[in-house]
Amino acid sequence: MRISTIAAVASNGVIGKDNDLVWSLPADMKFFMSTTKGHVVVTGRKNYESIPEAYRPLRGRTNVVITRNRDYVAEGAVVVHSLEEALEVARKAGETECFVIGGGQIYDQALKEGLVDTQYITHVEASPDGDAFYPSGAWDGWSARGLHEQAMDERHDHGFRIVQYNRTGT
Ligand SMILES: NC(=O)c1ccc[n+]([C@@H]2O[C@H](COP(=O)([O-])OP(=O)(O)OC[C@H]3O[C@@H](n4cnc5c(N)ncnc54)[C@H](OP(=O)(O)O)[C@@H]3O)[C@@H](O)[C@H]2O)c1
Repeated sequence: MRISTIAAVASNGVIGKDNDLVWSLPADMKFFMSTTKGHVVVTGRKNYESIPEAYRPLRGRTNVVITRNRDYVAEGAVVVHSLEEALEVARKAGETECFVIGGGQIYDQALKEGLVDTQYITHVEASPDGDAFYPSGAWDGWSARGLHEQAMDERHDHGFRIVQYNRTGT
């Protein structure tokens, strides 16, 4: 099973602030929704709760929420208590590509533990204030393939380019 992260990352590494996103980028949201559709998505509890209630669990995918809280309930989602347990849910479901969708703590653990094969990174041309970050240098030395470019316009707060990074040798 391939394990992939998918994230929109500012030039300074910021991915969010006050448990929310710091931009509106509809074309990136569309990329996220189409890329993860039909797959298992693994999320930290904070990121999960940052999704507006009307949109969670994310439809058409198995949502796996990681928390240390043994009493946590998320209707329509699978609740687990470690990243390894989350990945086991995906493996048991016969998943071919499992997406780690954040936030910062969960990206950090997946990458530090060397579990990630692919990173889909939306490089956002901005340096906003924030309190959640993607791990720095995470794609250094990985092979890069450009997938999409978007200029800033009336619908997009910033320009961005989406790059798929594969761990060298995978
Ligand atoms: N730009 C992007 O692409 C993107 C994508 C996703 C998220 N974000 C942003 O990222 C921010 C959220 O990220 P975050 O780092 O604050 O939180 P997070 O990673 O979403 O969730 C952290 C929570 O996950 C649980 N957790 C973490 N490690 C665990 C472990 N080893 N075992 C069990 N549970 C564990 C804990 O939940 P409990 O406290 O319940 O125990 C912890 O508080 C938001 O601002 C969001 O908008 C941005």
